[in-house]
Amino acid sequence: MRTGSENDPRIISTGNDELDKKIGGGIPLRSLSLVEGQPDSGKSVLTQQMVWGSLKKGCSAVVFTTENTVKSLVTQMQSLNLDIMDYLLLSRLWIYPIDTKKTRRSLSAGLLPMLESYANKGIDVAIIDSITYYVTHASTEEVLSFFEECKRLSGKGMGIICVAHSYAFDENAMVRLGSMCDAHLRLHIETMGSKMIKILEVAKVRGANLNTGNIISFDVEPNRGIRVIPYSKAKA
Ligand SMILES: Nc1ncnc2c1ncn2[C@@H]1O[C@H](COP(=O)(O)OP(=O)(O)OP(=O)(O)O)[C@@H](O)[C@H]1O
Ligand SMILES: [Mg+2]
Repeated sequence: MRTGSENDPRIISTGNDELDKKIGGGIPLRSLSLVEGQPDSGKSVLTQQMVWGSLKKGCSAVVFTTENTVKSLVTQMQSLNLDIMDYLLLSRLWIYPIDTKKTRRSLSAGLLPMLESYANKGIDVAIIDSITYYVTHASTEEVLSFFEECKRLSGKGMGIICVAHSYAFDENAMVRLGSMCDAHLRLHIETMGSKMIKILEVAKVRGANLNTGNIISFDVEPNRGIRVIPYSKAKA
């Protein structure tokens, strides 16, 4: 019998117990989360695991992606041993590729109505990977008001996970967004000797049973996804 956080109905599991524990039990359902980091730091893999965790829990999900087509996302997730095909066929999962060259740039006129339409359908979890393009074309006030609207939608029952490159925000905006979100996860890459180690910093998880600032070092492995590496080993 599995006793891990996958079975806790209140949270979105990453499918990796060790990681969930270090995130303070996992991301609360029906909340607003920000996952930000530098390129290649694992934002997409982490949130793909959360998509899987949500589906396994019986939730429905929609993924808005500026990085993939439906086919390439299915293949990418399969490479992590996350086979989403059945969920797609059963209409428990929707994938919505966004072509940033063709789409409206505005957060409020472009992205928000799409999110709202899925919230109205009763979808449980929405992941946007990523909002970087939109944020870099918006003022700080527009970004803050978009997050306020996301907060409203999460209050209506749809959890939203926004993924972004950290460089898209200035320091002031980042502090304000961090305080608006229920969960704020920050990723970066550190060079340790000849190795490049991915680091996840848990800046905030509302209601979590941990002090903020928890640091997790990890690697991404084929067919397995995120593997937590003890920080001391990572440094060795
Ligand atoms: N199936 C896999 N097997 C091994 N490594 C993988 C697999 N899938 C992804 N990775 C690796 O995981 C790392 C993180 O990738 P990911 O796409 O999550 O980064 P990201 O932060 O989303 O990057 P970007 O800013 O470019 O969107 C990359 O080095 C990638 O090559
Ligand atoms: Mg990515």
